[in-house]
Amino acid sequence: MDLELEGKRVIVTGGNRGIGRCCALALAREGARICITARDRSLLDQTVGEINEAGGEGYAVSADLTALEACRRVVGESVEQFGGVDILVNCAGAARAHDILDLPTELIDDALGLKSYSYLRMSQLVIPHMKRNGWGRIVNIAGSAGASPAQGNIPVSLANITILNMTRALSDAVSGDGILVNTICPGFTNTQRARDLFQAKADKEGRDVEEVLKDLGSGLPAGRIAEPEEIADVVAFLASDVCSYMFGSSIYMDGGDRRGTP
Ligand SMILES: NC(=O)c1ccc[n+]([C@@H]2O[C@H](COP(=O)([O-])OP(=O)(O)OC[C@H]3O[C@@H](n4cnc5c(N)ncnc54)[C@H](OP(=O)(O)O)[C@@H]3O)[C@@H](O)[C@H]2O)c1
Repeated sequence: MDLELEGKRVIVTGGNRGIGRCCALALAREGARICITARDRSLLDQTVGEINEAGGEGYAVSADLTALEACRRVVGESVEQFGGVDILVNCAGAARAHDILDLPTELIDDALGLKSYSYLRMSQLVIPHMKRNGWGRIVNIAGSAGASPAQGNIPVSLANITILNMTRALSDAVSGDGILVNTICPGFTNTQRARDLFQAKADKEGRDVEEVLKDLGSGLPAGRIAEPEEIADVVAFLASDVCSYMFGSSIYMDGGDRRGTP
Protein backbone atom coordinates (compact mmCIF):
# COMPACT_ATOMS: atom_id res chain seq x y z
CA MET A 1 0.00 0.00 0.00
CA ASP A 2 1.38 3.39 -0.97
CA LEU A 3 0.84 5.67 1.99
CA GLU A 4 1.68 8.72 -0.16
CA LEU A 5 3.88 10.21 2.53
CA GLU A 6 6.70 11.20 0.17
CA GLY A 7 7.79 14.76 0.98
CA LYS A 8 5.30 15.20 3.83
CA ARG A 9 6.61 17.51 6.54
CA VAL A 10 6.53 15.86 9.96
CA ILE A 11 7.35 16.70 13.57
CA VAL A 12 7.92 13.79 15.98
CA THR A 13 8.28 14.69 19.66
CA GLY A 14 10.33 12.23 21.71
CA GLY A 15 11.82 11.24 18.37
CA ASN A 16 15.37 10.40 19.46
CA ARG A 17 14.65 6.96 20.96
CA GLY A 18 12.03 4.35 21.77
CA ILE A 19 8.63 4.52 20.09
CA GLY A 20 9.21 8.06 18.74
CA ARG A 21 12.44 7.04 16.99
CA CYS A 22 10.66 4.07 15.37
CA CYS A 23 7.82 6.37 14.23
CA ALA A 24 10.37 8.72 12.64
CA LEU A 25 12.07 5.79 10.87
CA ALA A 26 8.76 4.31 9.63
CA LEU A 27 7.87 7.71 8.12
CA ALA A 28 11.40 8.11 6.75
CA ARG A 29 11.06 4.81 4.84
CA GLU A 30 8.04 6.43 3.12
CA GLY A 31 10.18 9.40 2.04
CA ALA A 32 8.91 11.97 4.58
CA ARG A 33 10.86 14.99 5.86
CA ILE A 34 11.05 14.73 9.60
CA CYS A 35 11.94 17.10 12.41
CA ILE A 36 12.57 15.14 15.59
CA THR A 37 12.72 16.79 18.97
CA ALA A 38 13.78 15.72 22.48
CA ARG A 39 16.51 16.87 24.89
CA ASP A 40 19.49 14.54 24.29
CA ARG A 41 21.48 16.09 21.42
CA SER A 42 23.72 13.12 20.66
CA LEU A 43 20.76 10.71 20.37
CA LEU A 44 18.98 13.27 18.18
CA ASP A 45 21.98 13.47 15.83
CA GLN A 46 22.27 9.69 15.72
CA THR A 47 18.57 9.33 14.80
CA VAL A 48 18.82 12.05 12.12
CA GLY A 49 21.56 9.90 10.53
CA GLU A 50 19.25 6.87 10.62
CA ILE A 51 16.35 8.89 9.12
CA ASN A 52 18.56 9.97 6.20
CA GLU A 53 19.80 6.41 5.66
CA ALA A 54 16.20 5.12 5.68
CA GLY A 55 15.23 7.38 2.76
CA GLY A 56 13.82 10.40 4.58
CA GLU A 57 15.23 13.84 5.31
CA GLY A 58 16.02 14.39 8.98
CA TYR A 59 16.36 17.52 11.07
CA ALA A 60 16.61 17.83 14.86
CA VAL A 61 15.76 20.46 17.45
CA SER A 62 16.93 19.89 21.00
CA ALA A 63 14.24 21.12 23.41
CA ASP A 64 12.68 20.52 26.80
CA LEU A 65 9.01 20.42 25.83
CA THR A 66 7.75 21.24 29.32
CA ALA A 67 8.20 24.92 28.34
CA LEU A 68 5.80 26.66 25.95
CA GLU A 69 8.69 28.68 24.49
CA ALA A 70 10.51 25.45 23.59
CA CYS A 71 7.42 24.11 21.78
CA ARG A 72 7.21 27.40 19.84
CA ARG A 73 10.89 27.13 18.89
CA VAL A 74 10.48 23.55 17.64
CA VAL A 75 7.55 24.42 15.40
CA GLY A 76 9.26 27.65 14.23
CA GLU A 77 12.50 25.88 13.28
CA SER A 78 10.69 23.01 11.61
CA VAL A 79 8.60 25.39 9.49
CA GLU A 80 11.74 27.32 8.56
CA GLN A 81 13.49 24.09 7.55
CA PHE A 82 10.67 22.43 5.61
CA GLY A 83 8.29 25.28 4.75
CA GLY A 84 5.32 24.00 6.79
CA VAL A 85 3.97 21.12 8.86
CA ASP A 86 1.65 18.37 7.58
CA ILE A 87 1.92 15.76 10.32
CA LEU A 88 2.55 15.89 14.07
CA VAL A 89 3.36 12.77 16.09
CA ASN A 90 3.19 13.54 19.82
CA CYS A 91 5.24 10.94 21.68
CA ALA A 92 7.43 12.61 24.38
CA GLY A 93 6.59 11.20 27.79
CA ALA A 94 8.45 10.35 30.96
CA ALA A 95 5.88 9.90 33.76
CA ARG A 96 7.23 8.13 36.82
CA ALA A 97 5.57 5.27 38.66
CA HIS A 98 4.83 5.54 42.40
CA ASP A 99 2.38 3.95 44.81
CA ILE A 100 -0.75 6.12 45.22
CA LEU A 101 -0.72 5.97 49.04
CA ASP A 102 2.31 8.24 49.33
CA LEU A 103 2.33 9.68 45.82
CA PRO A 104 3.93 13.17 45.81
CA THR A 105 1.75 15.52 43.74
CA GLU A 106 4.90 16.79 41.95
CA LEU A 107 4.96 13.50 40.06
CA ILE A 108 1.48 14.25 38.71
CA ASP A 109 2.58 17.82 37.84
CA ASP A 110 5.64 16.43 36.00
CA ALA A 111 3.60 13.89 34.06
CA LEU A 112 0.94 16.39 32.99
CA GLY A 113 3.53 19.14 32.45
CA LEU A 114 5.38 17.13 29.84
CA LYS A 115 2.89 14.82 28.21
CA SER A 116 -0.52 16.49 28.46
CA TYR A 117 0.62 20.09 28.05
CA SER A 118 3.20 19.49 25.31
CA TYR A 119 0.75 17.36 23.27
CA LEU A 120 -1.83 20.16 23.53
CA ARG A 121 0.60 23.02 22.88
CA MET A 122 2.28 21.29 19.94
CA SER A 123 -1.15 20.60 18.44
CA GLN A 124 -2.26 24.22 18.93
CA LEU A 125 0.96 25.45 17.30
CA VAL A 126 0.84 23.23 14.20
CA ILE A 127 -2.90 23.47 13.48
CA PRO A 128 -2.72 26.95 11.84
CA HIS A 129 -0.09 25.57 9.39
CA MET A 130 -2.26 22.53 8.63
CA LYS A 131 -5.37 24.70 8.18
CA ARG A 132 -3.51 26.75 5.58
CA ASN A 133 -3.03 23.55 3.51
CA GLY A 134 -6.50 22.17 4.23
CA TRP A 135 -4.87 18.92 5.32
CA GLY A 136 -3.16 17.55 8.40
CA ARG A 137 -2.71 14.55 10.64
CA ILE A 138 -2.04 14.54 14.39
CA VAL A 139 -1.20 11.18 15.95
CA ASN A 140 -0.83 10.98 19.72
CA ILE A 141 0.88 8.21 21.61
CA ALA A 142 -1.08 7.83 24.87
CA GLY A 143 -1.04 4.46 26.66
CA SER A 144 -3.42 1.75 27.77
CA ALA A 145 -2.82 2.79 31.41
CA GLY A 146 -5.14 5.75 30.72
CA ALA A 147 -8.14 3.45 30.75
CA SER A 148 -6.68 0.90 33.19
CA PRO A 149 -5.27 2.75 36.21
CA ALA A 150 -3.34 0.85 38.84
CA GLN A 151 -2.24 1.99 42.28
CA GLY A 152 1.38 2.18 41.20
CA ASN A 153 1.00 4.21 38.03
CA ILE A 154 -1.41 7.12 38.61
CA PRO A 155 0.89 9.82 37.08
CA VAL A 156 1.12 7.67 33.93
CA SER A 157 -2.64 6.95 33.81
CA LEU A 158 -3.67 10.57 34.43
CA ALA A 159 -1.42 11.87 31.67
CA ASN A 160 -2.75 9.26 29.25
CA ILE A 161 -6.44 9.81 30.01
CA THR A 162 -6.06 13.55 29.32
CA ILE A 163 -4.77 12.66 25.85
CA LEU A 164 -7.88 10.57 25.14
CA ASN A 165 -10.09 13.54 26.12
CA MET A 166 -8.06 16.01 24.06
CA THR A 167 -8.10 13.72 21.04
CA ARG A 168 -11.87 13.80 20.84
CA ALA A 169 -12.14 17.55 21.53
CA LEU A 170 -9.39 18.55 19.09
CA SER A 171 -10.82 16.26 16.45
CA ASP A 172 -14.21 17.95 16.74
CA ALA A 173 -12.50 21.36 16.49
CA VAL A 174 -10.46 20.71 13.33
CA SER A 175 -11.85 17.75 11.36
CA GLY A 176 -13.80 20.22 9.17
CA ASP A 177 -10.41 21.63 8.07
CA GLY A 178 -9.19 18.27 6.81
CA ILE A 179 -7.15 17.61 9.96
CA LEU A 180 -7.62 14.16 11.51
CA VAL A 181 -6.58 13.65 15.14
CA ASN A 182 -6.23 10.09 16.43
CA THR A 183 -4.47 8.34 19.29
CA ILE A 184 -2.74 5.03 19.83
CA CYS A 185 -2.73 3.49 23.32
CA PRO A 186 0.14 1.04 23.47
CA GLY A 187 0.41 -1.52 26.22
CA PHE A 188 3.84 -2.58 27.50
CA THR A 189 6.33 -1.87 24.73
CA ASN A 190 9.94 -2.98 24.54
CA THR A 191 11.79 0.32 25.09
CA GLN A 192 14.23 1.70 27.63
CA ARG A 193 11.29 3.35 29.37
CA ALA A 194 9.61 -0.02 30.01
CA ARG A 195 12.91 -1.36 31.37
CA ASP A 196 13.30 1.71 33.64
CA LEU A 197 9.72 1.41 34.94
CA PHE A 198 10.16 -2.26 35.84
CA GLN A 199 13.74 -2.07 37.14
CA ALA A 200 12.54 -1.43 40.72
CA LYS A 201 10.33 -4.52 40.61
CA ALA A 202 13.19 -6.56 39.16
CA ASP A 203 15.58 -5.31 41.86
CA LYS A 204 13.05 -6.06 44.61
CA GLU A 205 12.57 -9.60 43.34
CA GLY A 206 16.28 -10.11 42.62
CA ARG A 207 15.55 -10.83 38.96
CA ASP A 208 16.75 -9.55 35.63
CA VAL A 209 14.44 -6.83 34.19
CA GLU A 210 14.30 -8.64 30.82
CA GLU A 211 12.88 -11.67 32.63
CA VAL A 212 10.24 -9.48 34.35
CA LEU A 213 9.17 -8.03 30.96
CA LYS A 214 9.05 -11.52 29.44
CA ASP A 215 6.77 -12.66 32.27
CA LEU A 216 4.51 -9.63 31.77
CA GLY A 217 4.22 -10.46 28.10
CA SER A 218 3.51 -14.13 28.69
CA GLY A 219 0.38 -13.13 30.66
CA LEU A 220 -1.08 -11.32 27.63
CA PRO A 221 -3.17 -12.93 24.87
CA ALA A 222 -0.34 -11.90 22.51
CA GLY A 223 2.12 -13.86 24.67
CA ARG A 224 4.67 -11.03 24.56
CA ILE A 225 4.98 -7.27 24.97
CA ALA A 226 4.93 -5.03 21.86
CA GLU A 227 7.94 -4.01 19.80
CA PRO A 228 8.11 -0.24 19.11
CA GLU A 229 8.22 -0.90 15.35
CA GLU A 230 4.73 -2.44 15.58
CA ILE A 231 3.35 0.78 17.07
CA ALA A 232 5.19 2.86 14.45
CA ASP A 233 3.60 1.00 11.52
CA VAL A 234 0.13 1.96 12.74
CA VAL A 235 1.30 5.55 13.29
CA ALA A 236 2.43 5.69 9.64
CA PHE A 237 -1.04 4.58 8.53
CA LEU A 238 -2.79 7.14 10.78
CA ALA A 239 -0.46 9.85 9.46
CA SER A 240 -1.39 9.15 5.87
CA ASP A 241 -4.14 10.07 3.45
CA VAL A 242 -5.11 6.38 3.33
CA CYS A 243 -6.50 6.97 6.81
CA SER A 244 -9.56 8.94 5.77
CA TYR A 245 -12.44 7.90 8.03
CA MET A 246 -10.99 7.85 11.55
CA PHE A 247 -11.88 10.95 13.53
CA GLY A 248 -10.91 11.32 17.20
CA SER A 249 -10.36 7.58 17.64
CA SER A 250 -8.24 5.94 20.32
CA ILE A 251 -6.79 2.62 19.23
CA TYR A 252 -5.59 0.10 21.79
CA MET A 253 -2.45 -1.80 20.83
CA ASP A 254 -2.06 -3.84 23.98
CA GLY A 255 -1.74 -7.41 22.75
CA GLY A 256 -5.35 -8.15 23.72
CA ASP A 257 -4.95 -7.09 27.37
CA ARG A 258 -8.01 -4.81 27.49
CA ARG A 259 -11.34 -6.44 28.21
CA GLY A 260 -14.06 -3.87 28.97
CA THR A 261 -14.83 -0.22 28.32
CA PRO A 262 -13.69 2.56 27.97
N1 LIG B 1 7.16 1.76 26.56
C1 LIG B 1 5.94 1.49 26.99
O1 LIG B 1 5.67 0.42 27.57
C2 LIG B 1 4.82 2.49 26.74
C3 LIG B 1 3.50 2.05 26.91
C4 LIG B 1 2.46 2.93 26.70
C5 LIG B 1 2.71 4.24 26.32
N2 LIG B 1 4.00 4.66 26.16
C6 LIG B 1 4.22 6.06 25.78
O2 LIG B 1 4.99 6.15 24.60
C7 LIG B 1 5.74 7.35 24.61
C8 LIG B 1 7.20 7.02 24.32
O3 LIG B 1 7.64 6.11 25.30
P1 LIG B 1 8.94 5.20 25.10
O4 LIG B 1 8.65 3.91 25.74
O5 LIG B 1 9.40 5.26 23.70
O6 LIG B 1 9.93 5.98 26.10
P2 LIG B 1 11.45 6.47 25.95
O7 LIG B 1 12.24 5.54 25.13
O8 LIG B 1 11.87 6.78 27.35
O9 LIG B 1 11.26 7.84 25.13
C9 LIG B 1 10.75 8.99 25.74
C10 LIG B 1 11.02 10.15 24.82
O10 LIG B 1 10.55 11.36 25.42
C11 LIG B 1 11.63 12.32 25.40
N3 LIG B 1 11.49 13.22 26.53
C12 LIG B 1 11.48 12.91 27.85
N4 LIG B 1 11.39 14.02 28.60
C13 LIG B 1 11.36 15.08 27.72
C14 LIG B 1 11.27 16.50 27.87
N5 LIG B 1 11.20 17.07 29.09
N6 LIG B 1 11.25 17.27 26.75
C15 LIG B 1 11.32 16.71 25.52
N7 LIG B 1 11.39 15.37 25.32
C16 LIG B 1 11.41 14.57 26.41
C17 LIG B 1 12.87 11.45 25.50
O11 LIG B 1 14.05 12.12 25.03
P3 LIG B 1 15.06 12.94 26.01
O12 LIG B 1 15.15 12.20 27.29
O13 LIG B 1 16.32 13.03 25.23
O14 LIG B 1 14.42 14.30 26.18
C18 LIG B 1 12.52 10.33 24.56
O15 LIG B 1 12.71 10.71 23.23
C19 LIG B 1 5.54 8.00 25.99
O16 LIG B 1 4.60 9.03 25.87
C20 LIG B 1 4.99 6.85 26.83
O17 LIG B 1 4.15 7.29 27.87
C21 LIG B 1 5.07 3.81 26.35
